[in-house]
Amino acid sequence: MKSIKFAFGISLFAFAAATGSAHADKMTLYCSAQEDWCQLMARSFEEATGIDVNMTRKSSGETFAQIRAESANPKGDVWWGGTGDPHLQAAEEGLTQEYVSPMRDQLHDWAISQAESAGNRTIGIYSGALGYGYNTDLASANNLPEPSCWKDLLKPEYKGHVQMANPNSSGTAYTTLASMVQIFGEDEGFEFMKGLHANINQYTKSGSAPIKAAGRGENTIGIVFMHDAVKQAVSGFPIKVVAPCEGTGYEIGSMSIIDGARNLDEAKKFYDWALSPEAQNLALEVNAFQVPSNKNSETSPSAPDMSQIKLIDYDFAKYGSSDERKRLLQKWDEEVSTLPQ
Ligand code: F6P
Repeated sequence: MKSIKFAFGISLFAFAAATGSAHADKMTLYCSAQEDWCQLMARSFEEATGIDVNMTRKSSGETFAQIRAESANPKGDVWWGGTGDPHLQAAEEGLTQEYVSPMRDQLHDWAISQAESAGNRTIGIYSGALGYGYNTDLASANNLPEPSCWKDLLKPEYKGHVQMANPNSSGTAYTTLASMVQIFGEDEGFEFMKGLHANINQYTKSGSAPIKAAGRGENTIGIVFMHDAVKQAVSGFPIKVVAPCEGTGYEIGSMSIIDGARNLDEAKKFYDWALSPEAQNLALEVNAFQVPSNKNSETSPSAPDMSQIKLIDYDFAKYGSSDERKRLLQKWDEEVSTLPQ
């Protein structure tokens, strides 16, 4: 009996080794969307599959830097969420790997184009337009005019009233920088960033922090994705959401499998599941108002209507390329962040 059990144990081990599933079912998720959504995605996937998820939330640029720093010994399996530009840069630098999901034909064209432009090393999971929001109580208490354009934010009366994230750590802030360069041209775009710098009270690490601070009454205007401002308004805070008059950029929030992922089978299961309507509809439970990439997923009626917003033809291939992202960030570091305020 003993020897039968032993032999059975050995053959199970051999099977597990041959199929690559010798380890316990687990995976490591790097998440760059909002914290409550990241938690809900991780816990729901665990419930759906029994696979344990070790999740860490960091901003898009920070996660990109971490994946690059770990590339000789990768610790993460899937990077879910965050703006598309650093996902594209990771693809170009070979930090993420090719995968074509069977779910792909259920997705909107913009999500598939994101994959195609990255040799299938990333894919679109949601989209959302950039803009800003402001605390109407604070604005009227300080007798501030109501802003409606990007250029309004340069007015001297807004000094100390505007907050945005640092474009090195935050995908939201990098989208802001790249959008200003695309809307106004490079020279005028940088002049805009310099003028804005004079009014900024703080550069935060995370992209949505400025509007959360505005919701709490600790800041007046936050430059963020409009869906993050809507979240504050829907939560009952006195936040008005602005789609700037000059037009604005947008993101294709993305997902990628990290090159050298230790738990590749689990990573692919997460990836396929995350593209399903069932997983994408979880957004509604945490007031995440992005537009989901699966055509069969639900979009909240509170989500900003992308068809009513003047969107620029954001050049993802250019602004998500390694050279351009590095160049713009270095230029912002040298020419904008160092200026006195
Ligand atoms: O989940 C909120 C969100 O605004 C996403 O739409 C976006 O991809 C991400 O946060 C960007 O975060 P960060 O600016 O911190 O990189």
